[in-house]
Order: sequence, then structure tokens, then C-alpha cells
Amino acid sequence: MPFPQDFVWGTATSSYQIEGMFAGDGRGECIWTRFSHTPGKIADGSNGDVACDHYHRFPEDVALMKALHMDAYRFSISWARVLPQGTGTINQIGLDFYDRLVDELLRNGITPSGTLYHWDLPQALEDRGGWTNPDIPSWFAEYTDVVARRLGDRVKFWSTLNEPWCTAFLGYWLGVHAPGQRDQKLGFRAAHQTLLAHAAAVPILRQHSHDAKVGITLNLVPHDPASDKPEDVRVARMADVISNDWFLDPVFRGEYPAEALAELTALGLMEGIDASEVKAAKLPLDFLGVNYYMRWVHEYDPSAPGQSRNRFPDDAEFTDIGWEVYERGLLDTLLKVHRDYSPAEIYINECGAAYSDPDQADGEIVEDPKRVAFLRRYLGAAESALHQGVPLKGWFTWSLLDNFEWAEGYSKRFGIVHVDFATQKRTLKRSGIYMREVAKTGDVQVNVDNVSLP
Ligand code: FCB
Repeated sequence: MPFPQDFVWGTATSSYQIEGMFAGDGRGECIWTRFSHTPGKIADGSNGDVACDHYHRFPEDVALMKALHMDAYRFSISWARVLPQGTGTINQIGLDFYDRLVDELLRNGITPSGTLYHWDLPQALEDRGGWTNPDIPSWFAEYTDVVARRLGDRVKFWSTLNEPWCTAFLGYWLGVHAPGQRDQKLGFRAAHQTLLAHAAAVPILRQHSHDAKVGITLNLVPHDPASDKPEDVRVARMADVISNDWFLDPVFRGEYPAEALAELTALGLMEGIDASEVKAAKLPLDFLGVNYYMRWVHEYDPSAPGQSRNRFPDDAEFTDIGWEVYERGLLDTLLKVHRDYSPAEIYINECGAAYSDPDQADGEIVEDPKRVAFLRRYLGAAESALHQGVPLKGWFTWSLLDNFEWAEGYSKRFGIVHVDFATQKRTLKRSGIYMREVAKTGDVQVNVDNVSLP
């Protein structure tokens, strides 16, 4: 059975990964500018100073979306472009950019879906403790107010945050993302503040963006045990709670998962956090955005008690970034979230694959058969979820363009449109044509081997 007619097909990007123009037109420094300019942090030594130069080329990029028959576009707003110091003086030129982008989308019949925060915190706020400072919900409220007043009349889909797990734990605990802190306690503090910031932003979006759909976008990851041995089951369950329930429970139930909370408190990891504050995070939401990329398979590691190592099946397949190709995990995740939390609607706000494509595109189309096969498999899983009663309303492929893939730099390509970073030339990939035909027909099995450009 094909996807329904009103299913929303889109692509997703984020500000720091595509915009460039990092210091021009009054934009403030953000944590990713600082982090990527610190030697040793980015795999290929690159940064997002230019990225896809989308700041200047957005009309061309919107035209590409239109050529791909996309209904919607998920983008994020750069906090530091709008409020260079994070709070206070508004940079009108920065805000004007998003105004023009939104108008261009609407002129082309593409629904804008805005994300307020996709990891690029103003450095000025990081200098005051960033996501670990208890004032950040009020800073975020101020920023939300500025953005919602300007764009709320036309943007009718809003995610408050993108993947707060990454913001908090990759940024403050594991240090592989900006701002590069390595302190587990700080990770939990930051996670707590992301939830309170979400709570602060929702009513402001509702106030200035009437009849908009408001939600949050989480990266959900299945954590399976490698065997049914109790120690494997236990480590897998703990990982599941920390990466998924830690955010889902506050947002849908207004509390942290009790067992994990007790355990973390006993370990001293909740020091300085008033866990009861997350009551505020339980607010009626119109949708949950799910970003799906990977699963983990846990085997208890006796050499590091409480820890596990990854034990994938021998025949597991991986994409170029080392993430397992396992579409069943997407189905499991959607069924679980629907069963345990029943969000009103679910959008897959990101799903996609890194496979290596050539740096330069010679012909009219870049052939990327692995990405086509990947998307076909994952879309099949999404379709199964839909037919098993999951209220799945849309799919946003990550990503429209090859772009700056955070700590991996430009070495991992996720786009359904190829970008030659030396010339900024865009070239459609076969996967783009595949997504175009899926959007037209709703049929994930559609054959695109001989389908050509529009
Ligand atoms: C997600 C991020 C997105 C992109 C993909 C590959 O976790 O939200 O920006 O980097 O991974």
C-alpha cells in the first residue's frame, strides 16, 4: 500500500551545517565556530565558515526542493545570527535572511518547518556556562520570542530543540561536539536545562504563531542486548533509558524515569539539579519529531563494570560513518514511542545515510545506488509503522545537501543533492530522483533506474 496523498515529504538541514557567512552581516560567534577553529576537533580540519554558502544561494536551493517535488523543508535558525550576543541587541539583517528564506519557500509552495535550536549556541552564552547555566531557559525564551514574532505568521511547524541528547551529552559529557566539555555531571545539568528551555519556548511559540504545530525533535536509538544474559539485558536497558526515556519521560510525563534517576542520584550525577523541575516540560505537543540513524547492541564488559561494548551481528552492514544499516530499528522505535507515549503525530524529521560520493560531479546525475537502497529500506519500515497504526505524518530526508557533518567535517556526505565544495556547484543524485518519485507516487518500490531529470 503506498503512502497516503497528504503525507508530507521534505528534506532537512541545519543552519551551521549549510549557511556559511559565519561572521558577515552581523552574525555573532557560535560554539561551533569556536570549536571547529580549534585544532584537532574536526576530522578533516575544516569548519562551517562557508559550508554550502546557502546564505547566498538559498533561492537555488529552494528551486532544487521544488524540482524534487518536496512539500516541506525543515531548517534551523542560527541564534547567533539573530542575537549575536545571545540576548539583547537584535541583528535585524540576520532576521531578514530567515524572512526571505520563508517567503521564498512559500512562493514555491513549500511548507517551512523551523527548528529554533540545532546546536549552534552563541559563544557569548557559552562564556557564561551555556547549557549548564540555569538562566538559559530565560535566554532561550527571549530568543524564541524574537524569532516567533517575526516568522510566526508564516512558519506553522516548529521544533523547539533538535536532539537535546546530543547538545547535552556529546557537547558537555563526551566532548566530541561543541563546546567540547568532558564532565558527566555537566552533561546531566545541560540535559536538564534543555528540557526547561523547551518548556519555556512552547507557550511563546503558541502565542506568536497561532495555529502552528509545535513539537520537539529527538534522536531515538534502540539499544538491544547482544544476548538474553541478564548482564547484557541490564546494560542495554540502562543505555536505552539514558538516551531515550531521559528526554521522552519529561516531555510526555513530566518526570525523569524513576529507576535511572535513583541510580544517577546515588552516583552523585544529579548534584545541583532539582529533578522535580522537569514537571514543566510536560506540555501538550502537536507532534514528536523523530530523528533515526542507528541502533546499538550491548554486551556487558566485565573489564569496565556498568559499561558495555558494541557487539553487532557478524553480517551487519554499515554506512560510511560506521552506523549500522538496520531499518527494523526504525520500525521498533516508532512502535515503542507510539505505544508508550502516544504523541498526537509523529514526523520523521531526519533519516538518511552517509556514503562516499566523488568530490566532483562530472555528469548530470551522481549515481548513489547505496543511498537509494538505504532509503528504500528505511521508507519501507516507516510504511510498516504507518500501517500498524503509528500516526506518522511526514518524512524529512537528511539531507537536502552534502554539508558540514559536525566533527566529521566534509568527509561524510549525506545529501540527496551533491555539493562540490570547491565550486559550490549542486548536482542531483539518483537518491534525489528517487525521493522525487516517492513524493509523487507514494510508492517506495518505484524504480528510478531510467528516470531522468525534470
Ligand atoms: C543528526 C543531526 C544532523 C546530522 C545527522 C547526520 O544527529 O541532527 O545535524 O548531522 O545527525
